[in-house]
Amino acid sequence: MINGGRPLCGQVEIPCSKNAYLPILAGCILCDGKIVLHKCPRFSDIDAMLRVLETLGTVVVKQNDDLYIDCTKIKFSYIPSELTKIIRSSIFTLGALLGRLRRAKIAYPGGCDIGVRPIDLHLKGLRALGIKVEERHGYISCESTKFCAGSVDLDYPSVGATENLMMVAVLSSGVTTIRNPAREPEIVDLQDFLNSMGAKISGAGTNEIVIQGVDKLHSTEYTPMRDRIVAGTLLVACAMTGGEVTLTHCNPEHFLPIVNKLVKSSCKIEANNDNICISSDGCLQSFGELETGPYPAFPTDMQTQMLTMSTICKGSTLVTENVFESRFRVVPELSKMGADIVVQGRTAFVRGVDRLLGATVYAHDLRGGAGLVLAGLCAVGYTTVYDVWHIDRGYEQLDQTLASLGADIHRLD
Ligand code: UD1
Repeated sequence: MINGGRPLCGQVEIPCSKNAYLPILAGCILCDGKIVLHKCPRFSDIDAMLRVLETLGTVVVKQNDDLYIDCTKIKFSYIPSELTKIIRSSIFTLGALLGRLRRAKIAYPGGCDIGVRPIDLHLKGLRALGIKVEERHGYISCESTKFCAGSVDLDYPSVGATENLMMVAVLSSGVTTIRNPAREPEIVDLQDFLNSMGAKISGAGTNEIVIQGVDKLHSTEYTPMRDRIVAGTLLVACAMTGGEVTLTHCNPEHFLPIVNKLVKSSCKIEANNDNICISSDGCLQSFGELETGPYPAFPTDMQTQMLTMSTICKGSTLVTENVFESRFRVVPELSKMGADIVVQGRTAFVRGVDRLLGATVYAHDLRGGAGLVLAGLCAVGYTTVYDVWHIDRGYEQLDQTLASLGADIHRLD
C-alpha cells in the first residue's frame, strides 16, 4: 500500500543482476568442482533456480550473501514440469546439462505472463551443432557427444538461446561460432564467469562469439554484474516523484538508452564509473518515442516503467514494444489510476495527465508490477498493488528500498 506524493532522496547500492545470476547458476553445472558466487540477490527467481540445481544433485550452501555451490555430485539430467512452471529460466540448464552429462530431459517451459515465448531458436541452434533433439509429450529430450561443435546463425539475437549455445559448446572438442548472438551485458558477464573456470570464449558483446572447447572446467569465485533494470526502475521512481537519488555499484554505460530518455524528460543526471545520481523536480516533459529491441536498443524490461512515467509527462508519447507481445497488460490497471493510454497493436499512444489518482490495482507480471508501484508513488492518495509476488521475482524487497528513500509504502500481510 502506497500513499503517493513523497519525493525520494538518498542512496541505494544496486544488487547483482537477476538476468546475469540465473544463467551463471546454470553454468555452474558445467564445473565438476566447487564454486563461490558472491552477493547473491534475494529475488524469488534465484531461489527457484537454486531448487532446480539441487534437484540435479548440486549441494548449495548460503552464507550471508555468498553461495557455496558443489557440483561434483551432479547426476540427474531431468527437470520436471513442476519446476519449469515455477521458473521458466530453468531452460538455461539445457545447454549446461548437455555439456556436462551429454543428455538432458526438460519439461517444455511454455508461455508466460509477457508472451508466448517459444524456444525454437534454442532447439534449432542445438540441432545445428549436431545434437539430437526430440520433442514429445511436453518434454524436450536431447543427447549430445563431445564432438558437438560447429556454426550457428541465430535468426534473432535471443538472449536465452545465445546463453544455452555458449554453455553447450564450452566442453566440446571443437570450435563453435555463434553468429548474430544477443549482445546484452549479461552475455558478456556469462562469458567472463565461464572463462574464470577455464573456458575459452571470446566475442561476447559483439556480432560473433567463438568458443574453443576445453576438456574440463575448474573451481572459481565470481561476483556477477549489477542489475541494470533495478537501477533503471529506481531512476524512473525518482524522476516521477521528484527528489535526488544516488545509485552505487552499477555501470551507467549499461543503461544509456534509459538515461537518454530521462534527460530528454528534463531530469538531471550525473554519472561516473560505478555510480549515477539523478535529480528531478517531478515536472516531466515527454521523451517523445520509445521502441524496444535487442541490446543496445531500449530494453524491453524497462518499457513498462517508462510507459508508466510517460502517463504524467507533459505532451504525448509513443511506446512501441517489439520484443514481448503481452507487455501492455498493465495498461488497464494504469487507466484505473487516471492514465490516458490507447493501445493499437504493438504501440501505446499516451497523452500525459496532470496527476494519477490512487486505486486498487493488480500486478500481472514482474516489470508491470514495478510500473504500478511507480505509479502509486506519485499518485494522489492511496494505491494498493495486489499480487506483488510477481515483483519479488526480480526486485529485492522493493518496498523497503523505496521506504529507505522516503516513500510511504508498506507491505500488507
Ligand atoms: C531474457 C531475459 C528477459 C528479457 C529478454 C529480452 C533472462 C532470465 N530473461 O529473456 O528478462 O526481457 O531476455 O531482453 O535473462 N524467441 C523466439 N524463439 C526462441 C527464443 C526467443 O521466438 O527460441 C523470441 C521471444 O519470444 C521474444 C524474443 O525472441 O519475443 C526475445 O527473447 P529472448 O531474447 O530469448 O529472451 P529470454 O532469454 O527469454
